[in-house]
Amino acid sequence: MNYTILKPQQFGRVGLLTLSRPASLNALNSVFFSELIDYLDYILTDEPFDVLVITGEGKAFAAGADISEMVGLDPNGARRFSERGQQTFLMLEDLPIPVIAAINGYALGGGCELCMACDIRLASFNAIFGQPEVNLGLVPGYAGTQRLSRLIGLGGALKWILSGLNMDAREAYRIGLVQDLSEPEKLIEDALTLARRIATRGLKAVRTAKMLLRKGIDMNFQKALDMEKEHFAELFNDEGIEGMKAFLEKRKPSWENNK
Ligand code: HXC
Repeated sequence: MNYTILKPQQFGRVGLLTLSRPASLNALNSVFFSELIDYLDYILTDEPFDVLVITGEGKAFAAGADISEMVGLDPNGARRFSERGQQTFLMLEDLPIPVIAAINGYALGGGCELCMACDIRLASFNAIFGQPEVNLGLVPGYAGTQRLSRLIGLGGALKWILSGLNMDAREAYRIGLVQDLSEPEKLIEDALTLARRIATRGLKAVRTAKMLLRKGIDMNFQKALDMEKEHFAELFNDEGIEGMKAFLEKRKPSWENNK
């Protein structure tokens, strides 16, 4: 598939995906979703790299779902529109590899929901976040009503979603929506550095940890502990043994991705 909005790049074992529709502040339209589904399929099938970074070109990460597309929908169309976005962002969240959002500017509405489906959020000091849907007479529809409260707590999510106010990057950092802040010109470099750091750890361990954290949060606590124990044990076949031996022998583990 030829992409018109997505610009994929690869740096060794790290992928960088740039949303590039800057004239519309990277508003998320149907073409974007078709391309993203195709790209996620490619990652699942080919496993081209071990960590993905997502960012936006211009002054936005993404300023939301494309309002000019949404305005023509009836309730049935809107249900399908919401469901397609929800399923695509679930597919992104469920990728076996970690995904880092590098938020360069506006992350509003669907754009904020996109970065919340990523595993880690890094933002530049000039990023702006918000769920402004109530300003349009709408509610978030790409899982924002569910992911925001899981990330920052129910009280904060109610405040931001009910008011439709935007928050700056420092506030997003203070409330734990983003994990780190960068100077705008250093954002991508910082995101790639973190991605490379993750990509040179125990690969199975990283994927297992992501899966345990992601799955466990919605599970019964004891069941989640049982799942953790089983997956902890599974790492004692190759990668984990090599990692521990390397520590004791004061050398780097000889994992393929660590050379
Ligand atoms: C379609 C959009 C857009 C959007 C911006 N544009 N956001 N087009 N959908 N979400 C377009 C503008 O129409 C304009 O096009 C161009 O991008 C530049 O935007 P400006 O408004 O001129 O830029 P600026 O004055 O800098 O203001 C930036 C902004 C503002 C504050 C981010 O664009 C804005 O408020 N955008 C809407 C944000 C929003 O409400 N997002 C939530 C959408 S609802 P032209 O052609 O005029 O140059 C949503 C629901 C998700 O996301 C769930 C769905 C199921």
